[in-house]
Amino acid sequence: MPIDIRLTAIPAPAGGPLAAHLAAVTGEAGDGEDIVVAVQGAETAGLDPYLGGPVTDVLAACDATGKAGDVTPVAMRAGDKPRRLLLLGLGDGSAADMRKAGAALGRRAAPERGMLAAAALGRPAESVRAFAEGLLLGSYRFSLAAGAARGTGPIQVRILVPAGDQEATAAVSAARAVAEAVGLARDLANMPSSRKTPAWLAGEAARAAAAGGLTVRVRGPGELAAEGFGGILAVGAGSAQPPCLIELGYHSPGARTHVVLAGKGITFDSGGLSLKPNEGMKAMKTDMAGGAAVIAAMSALAELGAAVRVTGLIAAAENMPSGSAMRPGDVITHFGGRTTEVLNTDAEGRLVLADALAYADTVLEPDVVVDLATLTGAARVALGGVLGALYASDDALAAALLAAGQESGEPLWRMPLVDDYGDALDSPVADLANIPHSTRPQAGSIDAALFLREFTGGRPWAHLDIAGAARFSDGDAGKGATGFGTRLLLRWLGGFSSA
Ligand code: BES
Ligand code: MN
Ligand code: ZN
Repeated sequence: MPIDIRLTAIPAPAGGPLAAHLAAVTGEAGDGEDIVVAVQGAETAGLDPYLGGPVTDVLAACDATGKAGDVTPVAMRAGDKPRRLLLLGLGDGSAADMRKAGAALGRRAAPERGMLAAAALGRPAESVRAFAEGLLLGSYRFSLAAGAARGTGPIQVRILVPAGDQEATAAVSAARAVAEAVGLARDLANMPSSRKTPAWLAGEAARAAAAGGLTVRVRGPGELAAEGFGGILAVGAGSAQPPCLIELGYHSPGARTHVVLAGKGITFDSGGLSLKPNEGMKAMKTDMAGGAAVIAAMSALAELGAAVRVTGLIAAAENMPSGSAMRPGDVITHFGGRTTEVLNTDAEGRLVLADALAYADTVLEPDVVVDLATLTGAARVALGGVLGALYASDDALAAALLAAGQESGEPLWRMPLVDDYGDALDSPVADLANIPHSTRPQAGSIDAALFLREFTGGRPWAHLDIAGAARFSDGDAGKGATGFGTRLLLRWLGGFSSA
């Protein structure tokens, strides 16, 4: 139960100033309920009688700047009781700033203090949605004790929308569905690896599938071996926890497009025999964040009514050193027969994804493939924690994903698939090497993308290297996993239309 805000949209009387509505609701509202209005715009009109003077004076005296997410508490009088009024800065009112403002409120929210939020009243549906999403996600806290994130029960937040405004009400519902999915992705990625084995991840995927109307199939080591998934098996070979391939299915009636989403599901990345130093290892429980985003996004497709067919593949394994681990110099055979020389066992994500991509291409035959992976430290160095790196073999697909990223608050930056670098992955003993043999200047994130492209069969394909964005500490996620990818996938998949 990561997000325990109960968000209800309540209708505000049409046309009336906020003050009129406050008069109606303050009497019945719980004593602990903070009232939230925006610093900017019409919302503050009519507040003067509650503040004992002009609101503009109060804003100036309290240094309420109006910056997005700036919260200024002041006292107001409603009826016979003093109440807390939160003056919330909305910045320029853009979706990004509305999201920030919502997140700031979400971080403050507590069970004993509910909120009546008028801050997004009368704003376009897109702004209401961003505000509500920010609010819900800002309240996220990871807890190992299920159901006890805050101890004392759910936080009640009432969000005012204009009476009869169907779009605003729908925006609040959509925000709830999306935030719940992002919360799931964060929960999965934040779970310590001692519990988060590949089998555990498969169990969580099955749970999400049951709740979200998805089909699920899990291939264990026996089936993986029988069908030739040599990459997943090799990466999992050093662990006491067997690897698996999780396959989720969603099929909306009348869907015209079949999308495959492939997620890296390394439940812990020690580096294997090419062992990481401790500094590089301590965050590696989140190395399945790509897979988590796939599970999470798919869990919400039915509720959001996405008109598309989606198959999700999560290649799950634990990368560990041991007497049974794959070695540098080993040659492994992927699904479909292509071989890879393993020069560094820490470049394991591409090995498991190669199997998934080859399987997608030759068996599932989708119209488009998108993979998400915490693939390279290089992508994180290049773009930091805010942007995901996007590689795409198809310009229309790239444009659609860039737009979805922008609109959903999970921005991507397109990177080049430099063909001239491709021969760096030549191997004298296999079809490919998993990292370059050569000593010329290397482009770690591009090399990895070029490796993956070899397994896509020329289909429209995009690769999201989310090594930086999956984990960050300044956004609405608090410290830890962000669930990056979930929102942009849902935005993108929500844009398809049926026949
Ligand atoms: N999981 C890591 C990438 C990573 C690093 C994710 C930091 C998040 C934060 C990946 O499996 C890895 O180890 N990549 C290596 C590749 C190298 C051996 C070519 C890397 O980036 O150092
Ligand atoms: Mn690694
Ligand atoms: Zn990894």
